[in-house]
Amino acid sequence: MKKDFAILGIESTCDETSAALLVGGKKLLSNVIYSQIEEHKKYHGVVPELASRAHAAKIATVIHEALAGRDIDCVAFARGPGLPGGLMVGRVAAQTLANFKKVPILGINHLEGHLFACEFEDGEVKNPLSFPLVALVVSGGHTELWYVRNYGQYKVLGRTRDDAAGEAFDKVAKLLGLPYPGGPQVSAQALKGRRDAVDFPRPLLPGTWDFSFSGIKTAVSYYLRDHQDVSVPDVCASFEEAVCETLVKKTLLAARKYKVKHVAVGGGVAANTLLRQMMSAEGAKLGIDVRFVPRKMSSDNAAMIALAAYKRLQAAGEDALKKKWNININPNLKVKNWGK
Ligand code: KG4
Ligand code: ZN
Repeated sequence: MKKDFAILGIESTCDETSAALLVGGKKLLSNVIYSQIEEHKKYHGVVPELASRAHAAKIATVIHEALAGRDIDCVAFARGPGLPGGLMVGRVAAQTLANFKKVPILGINHLEGHLFACEFEDGEVKNPLSFPLVALVVSGGHTELWYVRNYGQYKVLGRTRDDAAGEAFDKVAKLLGLPYPGGPQVSAQALKGRRDAVDFPRPLLPGTWDFSFSGIKTAVSYYLRDHQDVSVPDVCASFEEAVCETLVKKTLLAARKYKVKHVAVGGGVAANTLLRQMMSAEGAKLGIDVRFVPRKMSSDNAAMIALAAYKRLQAAGEDALKKKWNININPNLKVKNWGK
């Protein structure tokens, strides 16, 4: 690839419409994000039909702004996992642009993007990940634990069996009458509460690397049903502690079991301050270096899709640009285990 190889990334899997321009796998010239939060707020969650309409309404403008008249060498879009309507909008936009510009097109796994977003700092790719590592990708739609041997070489260790961690934050916020998205709201309330006020369960599911967060959410709903004069900050602090402790324990256990010295955490929930503090402190005790995605890059954005595409092209070698990459959308796209 030439030194100033320019990739236009497109992200439309959930409730952010985004386009970004990454040059030379290093410099981020733009990362335009249109957030649909205002559209979904009154429903306390993402409404797929509204999301599709908003993506369709915004994608052309977002791409136009991200490109700003510049030339590109490749288009990459998130082909899954995500909501079908949004994925279709992303694919059509990406394919139209790629045909018009006569450049190759790649379909990228959104969750891979969340992992690679860890390498950004101040609009540049500055901090390469060290391998092997254990990755925790934790967002509103996903909670997954991977052993990562190198770029593109994954072994999925476990994933949530029910709610994603961010989804649990959002549902608990709704139970408490706090606005959507719930993560930052619950976290802000938690600062004023006692973490040991309520003993919510820590679902460790021994013997597997899977997670389960719907039980903690249900425990919160029973607690609210059975108690009067509830302290919202105390419930938030105790809930947050239970979720974070579960994530930290399982991730570091996996790191020890797989004998890795590095852990990387990406996705919207990676913005959580308690999770960052707990994981870093517990990791340090074990001599494990913990890397978090920068807060600004933790939620959905197209820069991470462009970077994941760059990594893939690099790993694929000389013929990468002649290859026909998979651009079919897949709402349930899974990260492929290496060797399979
Ligand atoms: O990665 P993301 O933007 O979208 C998905 O791919 O799902 O993640 C959004 C999720 C939401 O559930 C939101 O409540 C959660 O990330 N979140 C947080 C925090 N900031 C965002 N959860 C806990 N603490 C936070 N500070
Ligand atoms: Zn995401």
